[in-house]
Amino acid sequence: MDLWHCDEKVNHTLKHLVDWKFWSDEDVRHALELSRTVKHKRWEFQGHMQGNTLVMLFQKTSTRTRVSFEAGMAELGGHAINLDWRATNFTLSKIRFETRYLCRNAAMLMARLKDNKDLLEMEQAASVPVINGCCNLYHPCQALADMLTIAEDRGGAIKGARLTYIGVYNNIVNSLVSISAALGVHLTLVCPIRDDHTIDKESRQKLLDVGQLVETLDAKSAVVDADYVYTDTWLDMEYFNDPSYEQEKRKRCDIMLPYQINAELMESSQAKIMHDMPIHPGYEITEDMVECSQSIIYDQAENRLDAQKAIMLHLLHGL
Ligand code: CP
Repeated sequence: MDLWHCDEKVNHTLKHLVDWKFWSDEDVRHALELSRTVKHKRWEFQGHMQGNTLVMLFQKTSTRTRVSFEAGMAELGGHAINLDWRATNFTLSKIRFETRYLCRNAAMLMARLKDNKDLLEMEQAASVPVINGCCNLYHPCQALADMLTIAEDRGGAIKGARLTYIGVYNNIVNSLVSISAALGVHLTLVCPIRDDHTIDKESRQKLLDVGQLVETLDAKSAVVDADYVYTDTWLDMEYFNDPSYEQEKRKRCDIMLPYQINAELMESSQAKIMHDMPIHPGYEITEDMVECSQSIIYDQAENRLDAQKAIMLHLLHGL
């Protein structure tokens, strides 16, 4: 074996995934295509992560992000270590120091941190790829799985798909906006609650400029011609069951209840129903809609696996 020979598959240019807005449109399209290939040819990628460890760091709870990354690494022949932030020495030291150590033992890091600034600090310090597992501003892994779901549903032709999102303008929306720009998806936003501080105005403007973004508060008309109708929680997951947020929760529910995904709203629409999960039945969506014939919610959640695999294969091996 030639010790000086570099495997041509190895990409030595360090690249991270904080959000799709930081990737070229071509790279975003490539990530989606790779996700589809990985999904359809799962067996071909077995062993691609052999000898590699992913460290997953969570400041917040997770079901899908944790399971899809861990299952993804296992299926690719690699290993994943799950770290609960509170049980690590990140609580005692600087993100920079702890991250630099992790990079000595891990091939990639995936972090769900509350504050995007902390994620950027980790990215700055890291000598291995860092993947954003959801922060206050972005959820890129979810957005790729969403686009994979739409692409699969349309036999691969994602360009021109009409997606209506009804809910709070949040981290999901920021990532849907940035990924839609690259993929030619038409996005209609029905967002009665929006916080100017957390809206990615640059990505929003880019989508407006190319004529792919409509904003309205008329939910009924926004679902009529939609191919897909998507909703998400009205309150960040860490606050949903927090008694100190009860007042804010009630306020949001009052504003958002007319925008709930329910049979009455969907009676004039053939759109497929999407939700990134976890679901709060009776809030953003009624229970009957979750498993109705129009719902593709479980396909969407399942697709996290292939989306995660594609992201890791691209970042670590340049596939
Ligand atoms: N959609 C999503 O990220 O799910 P989890 O919070 O369960 O990881």
